Order: sequence, then C-alpha cells, then structure tokens
Amino acid sequence: MTAIERLCGFLSILTGVLLLPSISLSQPVAFPKGCLDCHGSEPKYPVRGIRTQYLTSGHRTLGNASYANSDDCQGCHTNEGFVERVKKGKVDTKKFVSNPSEIGCFTCHAPHDTGNFSLRRVADVTLANGVAFDKEKGNLCASCHQARRMPKDEVRARNIPTDSWGAHHGPQSDMLLGTNAYEFPGKKYSKSAHSALPPANCITCHMTLPSGRYSLAPAIGGHSFRIEGEVHEEPKVNTAGCLSCHADMKQVAGKPLFDKKAAADYDGDGKIETVQEEMQGLYERLINNQGTGLLQTMKDPPYDAKGKFINNKTQYPIEVVAALYNYKFVKEDGSKGIHNTAYAVQLLMDSIKALDKNFDDSKRPQ
Ligand code: HEC
Ligand code: HEC
Ligand code: HEC
Ligand code: HEC
Ligand code: HEC
Ligand code: HEC
Repeated sequence: MTAIERLCGFLSILTGVLLLPSISLSQPVAFPKGCLDCHGSEPKYPVRGIRTQYLTSGHRTLGNASYANSDDCQGCHTNEGFVERVKKGKVDTKKFVSNPSEIGCFTCHAPHDTGNFSLRRVADVTLANGVAFDKEKGNLCASCHQARRMPKDEVRARNIPTDSWGAHHGPQSDMLLGTNAYEFPGKKYSKSAHSALPPANCITCHMTLPSGRYSLAPAIGGHSFRIEGEVHEEPKVNTAGCLSCHADMKQVAGKPLFDKKAAADYDGDGKIETVQEEMQGLYERLINNQGTGLLQTMKDPPYDAKGKFINNKTQYPIEVVAALYNYKFVKEDGSKGIHNTAYAVQLLMDSIKALDKNFDDSKRPQ
C-alpha cells in the first residue's frame, strides 16, 4: 500500500463514521443553522406573514410577466430581467427570458446571497427625461414605476396609434417629482410638498403597517403594496403611512378616500371636496360613463360614449393629443392626485381648458 492509498483508506473510514449517524432516518434533519433565520419554526424574519401579503400584490396577480417579456419589457416585468438589469445596467433587448417568473421575493431582495432582506437596488434613478429620482428606499420602486416615454417625442399633431399609446402605465415616479408630463406653453407648473421630502416615498405610504390589532387585511399595506382595499367588506384606506407627517389624517367614513380637502373647487361642481373627489370630477370632464366628456363629444372623438378607445386614423391637432397624453398620465398614475396634487390638477385643468375655452380655470393652483 502506498502512502496515498493508506491515507485514502483512513479518510473513507473517517467520512463513513462521520456521515453514518447523519443519514440515519431516526435523527432530526441537520438543517444548516443559517437557514433557520428564514425557514425555521421561529424565524428571525416574518417570511410567512409577508408571503401572505405578497400573494395579493399586483406584482404576483396581474400576470404580465410572460407577456411583457421582450424588447426591454422584461427588465421591469420579469424577475429574471430585473436581476439582469441590476447586474449589467441593462437587459439584452433582442433576447427574452425563456421561463419568466413574476416579480417576487428574489427580485427585490437576494436572501440566499445576502442572508438577509436588504434591497437588491437602492441607488438613485434617472428618469426617461434625465431628471434624478432620489428618495431613500423608494428608489427601488422608481427603477420600474416610471414613464417610458417623453412628451417631446410623443405629443405633436398626429393620430393616436393604439389604446396603450402614452407614457406607459406606471408613471408614478415622474408624477411624484412633478416632471415629464406635457406642460402647455406659457403655463407655470408647481409641485406638492411630497415631491421634495425624501421620506414622502413609495415605501412610507404604501408599505407602513398600522401598529394596532384588528386593523387591516393582508391585501392592504406591507407587501401587498396597496393603500386601499376592504376589511370585513367595508372599504378601507391605510392612513398609517401618512401619520408621521399628517398626524390627523383620517378616512372619509364608509368611502375609500383620504379625508384631505382640496384647496379649492377644481372640478367646478360647486363644492370643495377631498382631493381624490376633485380629481375624479376633472377626469370626468374628459371621459365619463355618460358619454358627455370632451374626448367623447368632439369631432371624430378618440373615445366612444362608453369610454372605449376608437381606433380611427384621425390626425388630431396638438391640443387634443396633449390633453389625451396628460389624461392618461394622471389616470395611470393611479393615486387620484395624492402623489402630487398641484401638478396633477394643473395638468388636467390645462388639458380641459385646451379643449374647452369656456372652462373656468380661475381656481388653478399656482
Ligand atoms: C434571509 C432569509 C433566507 C435564508 C437565510 C434562507 N432562505 Fe431559503 N428562501 C427564502 C425566501 C424568502 C424564499 C422564497 C419564499 C417564498 O417564495 O415565499 C426561500 C426559498 C427557498 C427554497 C424554495 C425554492 C425557491 O427558489 O423558492 C428553498 C429550497 C430554500 N429557500 C432553501 C434554503 C436553504 C437550504 C437555506 C440555508 C442554506 C436557506 N434557504 C436560507 C429566504 C431565505
Ligand atoms: C420601466 C419599466 C417598464 C418597462 C420597460 C415596461 N413596463 Fe409595462 N408596466 C410597468 C409598470 C410599473 C406597470 C404597472 C403600473 C401600474 O399598475 O400602475 C406596467 C404595466 C403594464 C401592463 C398592464 C397595463 C394594465 O393596465 O393592465 C402591460 C400590459 C404592460 N405593462 C406591458 C408592457 C410591455 C409590452 C412592455 C415592453 C414593450 C412594457 N410593459 C415595458 C413598467 C414597465
Ligand atoms: C417589489 C419589491 C419587493 C418584493 C417583491 C418583496 N419585498 Fe420584501 N421588502 C421590500 C421593501 C422595499 C422592504 C423594506 C421595507 C422597509 O424598510 O420599511 C422590504 C422588507 C422586507 C422584510 C423586512 C426586513 C427587515 O429587516 O425587517 C422582509 C422579511 C421581507 N421584505 C421579506 C420578503 C418576502 C418573503 C418576499 C416574498 C414573499 C418579499 N419580501 C418580496 C420590497 C419587496
Ligand atoms: C422589478 C420592477 C418593479 C419594482 C422594483 C416594483 N414594481 Fe410595482 N409593479 C411592477 C409591474 C411590472 C407591475 C404590474 C405587474 C403586471 O402587470 O403584471 C407592478 C404593480 C404594482 C402595483 C399594483 C398596481 C395595480 O394596478 O394594481 C403596485 C401598488 C406597485 N406595483 C407598487 C410598487 C411599490 C410600492 C414598489 C416598491 C416597494 C414596487 N411596486 C416595486 C414593477 C415593479
Ligand atoms: C404620499 C403618499 C404616497 C407616496 C409618496 C406614493 N404613493 Fe402611490 N399611492 C398613494 C395613494 C393614496 C394612492 C391611491 C390608492 C387608491 O386609492 O387606490 C396611490 C396609488 C398608487 C398606485 C396605483 C395603485 C392601484 O391600485 O392602482 C401605484 C402603482 C403607486 N401608487 C405606486 C407608487 C410608487 C411607485 C411610488 C413612489 C415613486 C408611490 N406610489 C408613492 C400614496 C402614495
Ligand atoms: C414625509 C411627510 C409626508 C408623508 C409621509 C405624507 N405627506 Fe402628504 N403632505 C406633506 C406635507 C408637508 C404637505 C403640505 C402641507 C399640507 O398640505 O398638509 C402634504 C400635502 C398633501 C396633500 C396635498 C394637498 C393639496 O391640496 O395640495 C395631500 C392630498 C396629501 N398630503 C395626502 C397624503 C396622504 C394621503 C398621505 C399618506 C398616504 C401622505 N400625504 C403622506 C407631507 C407628507
């Protein structure tokens, strides 16, 4: 026997002795200790509860990951594309992800690489028009929830090619900063206090959980990322994220609205309502369910009486294209004016005025 063979024999006996007890089925599974922080019976991180919330989130349920999976879509719509984008700074637009998965735990965190739930991406973000977005951990959200286009490329006398034409569904970061919508020449645009305050960010408002019991459903706050939902079949808005700045923020009883009155009667219906109701009134001047909106009643309208897009080849003048661009920008922001009241109201009032010279815009915020 050579020295090497003797050593190997010794090692094989040693490993046998060491391994045998651990493969005996009567022994408990020797799960590496590090895993228990997340996968144990009493984990350090509340992974199971957070998963319950996440399962209700649009990230999990809206299901566009398989569809929006080429060009540059995969960089925002798929887990794999986002991980690639963070690593390389861009995605390969000629490729697609062969087995795409929806945005999930491993998109925003890298728990198996880091052993914790630090965020995969926190650096500041440059929006499509070059403006910097830098709001603490909200930068993670902003890296996907931003306009993909600029009015200078889209808004001119032209036809409207498709129903999905516009800034692209999620321009929340641009809205929050008050930038990158169509600003009518000769008008001044301002911003709400939210735009400059770093803690007024996506995470504070959308993810803060209330501190009491019996307060919410898994589909509101935390990893549902939603602010509005239902608790025991009653509409509920989560004020927990507002309270650090608006100590008296409440919900309007029985309605999915924040009780924050607008500074003026923007929609001109004779009463000063909450910001969200004034916004609703402004939307309805452009498109509504009765078919009386300006974009439904003009010559060759782009929307029918039911609010459905009409795919016509009409060459519209710039005012119509601009009004529609802004309508979509504000509507698809989804916050009904909360992200940035001043900017949202100004955009809609100017768009309405461009289509209806008789509209009273004397209450326009300065
Ligand atoms: C910092 C937290 C964390 C640690 C530590 C951790 N995991 Fe995980 N693990 C997760 C999360 C989060 C998921 C996804 C859970 C979900 O989808 O709900 C996961 C999922 C898994 C899965 C399912 C496969 C998959 O890709 O979804 C396996 C298997 C797994 N972990 C094994 C381990 C093992 C083995 C260890 C230790 C070596 C470990 N994990 C350590 C957080 C952790
Ligand atoms: C910069 C990131 C980003 C890119 C790139 C992107 N999207 Fe999106 N997309 C979003 C976000 C964010 C939402 C969700 C917005 C919301 O619900 O407020 C969304 C929503 C959608 C929706 C759902 C619309 C609805 O109303 O239900 C579709 C469909 C979609 N995107 C398709 C695409 C396609 C196709 C591409 C590529 C041509 C693409 N997206 C590229 C970020 C992106
Ligand atoms: C869209 C992005 C996103 C997704 C998807 C996501 N998270 Fe998070 N998660 C966050 C953000 C942002 C925070 C930080 C919240 C804060 O600091 O207030 C966070 C915080 C956490 C924390 C708290 C960390 C701590 O130290 O207290 C845990 C635990 C966690 N996430 C687990 C999960 C699990 C499990 C999943 C999947 C079921 C998941 N996350 C999916 C964005 C995400
Ligand atoms: C990797 C890109 C990405 C990141 C990061 C991200 N989102 Fe999203 N988010 C999306 C996309 C894409 C959708 C739409 C999913 C679909 O249509 O399949 C979406 C949907 C949503 C929705 C549901 C919208 C609806 O119409 O129901 C909310 C709310 C939301 N995101 C908030 C956030 C917040 C808050 C953060 C930061 C904590 C965040 N997102 C981080 C890409 C992202
Ligand atoms: C000042 C608090 C606040 C901040 C900051 C904030 N949001 Fe919102 N957001 C809201 C409120 C309130 C709504 C309206 C919720 C409702 O009524 O459905 C909303 C709506 C949304 C929606 C539409 C939800 C839906 O169900 O259609 C998305 C997506 C969203 N916000 C993402 C973001 C992102 C991304 C950021 C950061 C760039 C952000 N928000 C910053 C308060 C905030
Ligand atoms: C980091 C601090 C901060 C947070 C968090 C915050 N806000 Fe604000 N918000 C302000 C300040 C400051 C103002 C300007 C003073 C005022 O109007 O109260 C403001 C103004 C507003 C306005 C504009 C009113 C107008 O007419 O211009 C609305 C609407 C609003 N907040 C709603 C909310 C809601 C709803 C939440 C929670 C979902 C929230 N805010 C979270 C700081 C914050």
